[in-house]
Amino acid sequence: MDKFVIRGGNPLLGTIRVSGAKNAALPAMAAALLTDETVVLENIPDVRDIQTERKLLVSLGAEVELGYGRAHHRTSINCRNLNKNPEAAYEIVKTMRASTLVLGPLVARMGVARVSMPGGCAIGARPIDLHIKGLELMGATITQEHGYIEARAERLHGAHIYFDKITVTGTEDIMMAAALAEGDSVLENCAREPEVTDLADLLNKMGAKIEGAGASTIKVRGVSKLRGARHRIIPDRIEAGTFIIAGAISGGDLNVAGCDPSHIQAMLQKLGECGIKLRVGQDTVRVISDGALKAADINTEEYPGFPTDMQAQYMALATQAEGASVITENIFENRFMHALEMARMGANIKIEGRRAIVRGKTPLSAAAVLASDLRASASLVVAALAAEGETIIDRVYHIDRGYEHIEEKLRGVGAQMKRIGEMLPRKVSVPVG
Ligand code: UD1
Repeated sequence: MDKFVIRGGNPLLGTIRVSGAKNAALPAMAAALLTDETVVLENIPDVRDIQTERKLLVSLGAEVELGYGRAHHRTSINCRNLNKNPEAAYEIVKTMRASTLVLGPLVARMGVARVSMPGGCAIGARPIDLHIKGLELMGATITQEHGYIEARAERLHGAHIYFDKITVTGTEDIMMAAALAEGDSVLENCAREPEVTDLADLLNKMGAKIEGAGASTIKVRGVSKLRGARHRIIPDRIEAGTFIIAGAISGGDLNVAGCDPSHIQAMLQKLGECGIKLRVGQDTVRVISDGALKAADINTEEYPGFPTDMQAQYMALATQAEGASVITENIFENRFMHALEMARMGANIKIEGRRAIVRGKTPLSAAAVLASDLRASASLVVAALAAEGETIIDRVYHIDRGYEHIEEKLRGVGAQMKRIGEMLPRKVSVPVG
């Protein structure tokens, strides 16, 4: 199993580029299930979750070309010959919860879908009841057996659906199903994340009639057929935020390029409160830090609030800020596992239910630490950049799920970071462009 070895203390200097958003690419790839024509997606990140999604789509009968090169990160998906009884198997779903995104598109297009229940994961229970409820309201019959959900409907019909809780992939799943349903749907209390808007943009290019994505209420006029399209995936706002925090904690001068600053407003405001100097351009954020940081509290919220996917990285930063920072996690229970690892590096963090109180500034000293999930591993990388000595981060397969070549990118701006371990070939892609 690969590990990262990071020697802290180097300020990050220069320009680092942001890749395409994994969380936008995954639903976009699932959207290709809605049509028998080819969907071409550009700016696809070279991360393991994308390989998993490709495997999933191929298992459903799709033809998927995926290629990475200097000029292009592209996938071309054709779902003309899907299996008659498509099934998303447990072996795939257990490694990537977002696999449930195929449920809505499959039942809308094929009239039937079997998808393994995702089960628990490291950051909480994460049920999919709202996906199921939405499909039921659209006329699907749902049965659950042997750990699988089966949805059937001759043709879904439009419905008025109120999400009891804001869910990102739930909104995306139901929006895709509604695009091919008969009649109009009104979806209320929707997630407003940029990834939802990006998906709606793609679906509209495919011929869907969707209005309001990015707001709480989305209206969908169902159509009987969708066509192929070409679409460029938005930049990854969480990767951008992670790099900005890495630049700040290292006391560097880092230009984070190829991002969309309008998607990270809540984060930028908070980092400003911490005393970090930020110069925001059209698609760049330059972070200039002398390492002097002030404590500030955060509450994770749905977009446009402070993202839960940045909470762990922010906690690493808070350990280096003067004063007490109260971090309240409102989206997922059990998302403080990184705190225990940071404490092993010398951080002073007290957990009280959904709140973590971080008292700083405490010097961090390198230790052997264990990554428990994707964003937790990113936070340990950030902490290691500020630690004295050589930190060894185990289980970096988590970070490979969602960060493209992070060690190469960070090394490029001065981090002392290397990957050691079995070095199994990570890429199974073929170069293009
Ligand atoms: C997505 C993101 C993930 C991010 C999360 C919150 C993708 C692929 N993943 O995950 O990186 O951390 O949004 O911003 O886009 N819930 C229910 N019932 C449901 C669905 C969700 O109770 O049917 C609850 C969850 O347990 C959680 C909350 O709603 O407490 C939000 O979850 P949700 O927005 O669905 O997260 P994901 O879409 O899985």
